Amino acid sequence: MSDEELVKRAFDMHRFSYVPYSKFPVGAALLCADGTVFTGCNVENAAFGSTICAERTALLKAISEGHREDWTAIAIAGQGEDYCWPCGACRQMLYEFAPGLRVIAARGDGDFQTVPLADLLPHGFGPKSLVR
Ligand code: THU
Repeated sequence: MSDEELVKRAFDMHRFSYVPYSKFPVGAALLCADGTVFTGCNVENAAFGSTICAERTALLKAISEGHREDWTAIAIAGQGEDYCWPCGACRQMLYEFAPGLRVIAARGDGDFQTVPLADLLPHGFGPKSLVR
């Protein structure tokens, strides 16, 4: 699947976002090597800290359906003028399963940029860091 198509899948998730507080819908689409795509949206909560981002929604769907390995890219689509880069918590959770992942961040007008996750989380702490 092309990056453009993956970004479209991410934008398409805005319709499911639950964002009564921020009014900022975010969609994500996580591509696996076998072509499977797991999508996600942000889901907010009146207890603000319980909000979950679109990326982690997609990640949890993949893990909970047995797709733990071979992720190739994640597209993230926001609405603003800035590219929607993943927050720190999402970077860390993605790094656990796919330190080599490509991250595609889109802004509201559909333009997007691509960077390796490792550039967004340099010297990341992952499963290998725990080997004694
Ligand atoms: N959000 C995401 O879903 N992903 C990001 O990469 C950045 C932030 C959500 C969380 C919250 O619902 C809203 O955007 C505003 O922070």
